[in-house]
Amino acid sequence: MNHSIMDPMIPHPYKIQRVIKETHDTFTLELKSIEKNGTFSFAPGQFNMLYIAGIGEVPISISGNPTKNGSLIHTTRAVGTVTKEMAKLKRSDVIGIRGPFGTNWPVKEAEGNDVLLVAGGIGLAPLRPVIYHILSKREYFGKIILLYGTRTPQDILFRKELEKLKSRLDIDIYVTVDRATRAWNGNVGVVTRLIPRAPFDPINTIAMICGPEIMMRYTITEISRRGIASENIYVSVERNMKCGIGLCGHCLYGTEFICKDGPVFRYDQIQNIFGKREF
Ligand SMILES: Cc1cc2nc3c(=O)[nH]c(=O)nc-3n(C[C@H](O)[C@H](O)[C@H](O)COP(=O)(O)OP(=O)(O)OC[C@H]3O[C@@H](n4cnc5c(N)ncnc54)[C@H](O)[C@@H]3O)c2cc1C
Ligand code: FES
Repeated sequence: MNHSIMDPMIPHPYKIQRVIKETHDTFTLELKSIEKNGTFSFAPGQFNMLYIAGIGEVPISISGNPTKNGSLIHTTRAVGTVTKEMAKLKRSDVIGIRGPFGTNWPVKEAEGNDVLLVAGGIGLAPLRPVIYHILSKREYFGKIILLYGTRTPQDILFRKELEKLKSRLDIDIYVTVDRATRAWNGNVGVVTRLIPRAPFDPINTIAMICGPEIMMRYTITEISRRGIASENIYVSVERNMKCGIGLCGHCLYGTEFICKDGPVFRYDQIQNIFGKREF
């Protein structure tokens, strides 16, 4: 059953199966529908509206595996009213879900090409489904490169999973932190510093970028310098949302609605407004 087609404004009840504390301010919820026949399918990059009764509703990307239908997974950073309440939820609590909504990362278009994923902070969560998708069809893609930057080593998301992935020989993963601790022996500096030596072929690369807007802007500058064309660059844009389905106008971005025309945009389609505060 695809909830969004049936009644997109009505939240459906999902029970929390597991809460995973990822970092000091970020947590993952594994959810299961409590409705009869309540399965869930989505494309990498899509989001749901998560509703906590009496508190409010927020858009959160789906961070789980699109090739598995079992549970629905969201990874959230607690920053404000709703997300901080969400951080207090426990196993067996129930929340409302509407979705999936929005556009997806271009995983089909990327087939036959190298794929460059660049993530900053919580931006790794919306890109994780791309990694699952690609690894499930590994032979369809060229080189896969993930560049991931966080503020400190303590902010690295999905750490064990990244370590496991790093041991594979068919994906290149580079992690960097803005500020190192004594125990950190890895790269230090902003994520864009990893771009000059990342092993992709710019002519045949699709880039997918997710993180703070300033990080995405500098990343685009660097990868353009290396020769990736703007029509091969995709970004995920965030703004406040209410309806999630193109009705209320809350997420208007130039002439586009982020909830319905995005959140994933091809860069050349929004480059005139991207990174400008007034949008
Ligand atoms: C399509 C889409 C997908 C998203 N996916 C995710 C996701 O996978 N995981 C996730 O953690 N978040 C995600 N977000 C961001 C998330 O929706 C917001 O963090 C959330 O709406 C904040 O709501 P709140 O009520 O907790 O905070 P509010 O009370 O609305 O805000 C409190 C304070 O936090 C600040 N703030 C709000 N949003 C952010 C932010 N994103 N980063 C830093 N500070 C912020 C506000 O400026 C304000 O000062 C996504 C947003 C969009 C539009
Ligand atoms: S959130 Fe209502 S139009 Fe996008």
